[in-house]
Amino acid sequence: MKHIISPLDLTVNELDDLLELAGRIYRDPKRYCKVCDGKKLASLFYEPSTRTRLSFEAAMMNLGGNVLGFSSADSSSVTKGESIADTIKVISYYADICAMRHPKEGAPLVASQFSEIPIINAGDGGHNHPTQTLTDLLTIKEMKGGLNNLTIGVCGDLKFGRTVHSLINAMVRYEGIEFVMISPDELKIPEYLRHETLDNNNISYTETNILEDVLPKLDVLYMTRVQKERFFNEEDYIRLKDTFILDRKKMQYANDDMLVLHPLPRVNEIATEVDSDPRAAYFKQANYGVYLRMALIMTLLNLPEPTKEV
Ligand code: CP
Repeated sequence: MKHIISPLDLTVNELDDLLELAGRIYRDPKRYCKVCDGKKLASLFYEPSTRTRLSFEAAMMNLGGNVLGFSSADSSSVTKGESIADTIKVISYYADICAMRHPKEGAPLVASQFSEIPIINAGDGGHNHPTQTLTDLLTIKEMKGGLNNLTIGVCGDLKFGRTVHSLINAMVRYEGIEFVMISPDELKIPEYLRHETLDNNNISYTETNILEDVLPKLDVLYMTRVQKERFFNEEDYIRLKDTFILDRKKMQYANDDMLVLHPLPRVNEIATEVDSDPRAAYFKQANYGVYLRMALIMTLLNLPEPTKEV
């Protein structure tokens, strides 16, 4: 039994297989509409979510399965003091696979140690968000034609943004990757990522706080929101939250085939006038998330490709 706690829980070969399967599902979703007949997904969300929770639930329903769970800690027995270990032991009797979001870093890992069913980390604090990263990789692969030889700009809150940390960890395994880190000084990438991931893998990267200067060299621009919920001091959040706003004027500096990605939700960091630009791929990215999660559920449940057309 395999759990997905970090994007690195999949080898590059396993990841390639998963992305291939997600691409096949994207092109022919009806073919897969019964592969989870009789299966149940437990959707345990101890922290707010729109895309991750609903796309997991849509994914299971698209596969012909069912969903049970809760969308806030307040409606679960954690309010009575129940541990993650006890919760997941019980949920293992009720469902075949579990997606868990939790504000505490490491909570899904703890769950996996007590679980009889596969656990998927749907975001743990500022730590990891593997299914967002897998969605990002699927979007880049499908829209850029591959994952090698790309210059990727990551912009915004590089300190607290778990999606950026997971994306960097995942992309360093591909050939010819360069990063451009665009952030205020206070929100630069954490030191552990700089040394353990970038330096140890000899990955080339530059840092700047001027977005316009680097836009012409990017293949992908990954925008992120300043993570209000991770700040201790509201004054710092207010001072930093609008440092980077991508608008139509700035998009003039970018190449015609640059992709703009954002894990969403956005606040102000991408002006809505950019939404109609053909390079704006963030809503399509949210759509790819459903197909990626369908492929992940099938993979973790060891379900074979359907043998005949539905
Ligand atoms: N991208 C993402 O994780 O969105 P939600 O917080 O809405 O799930």
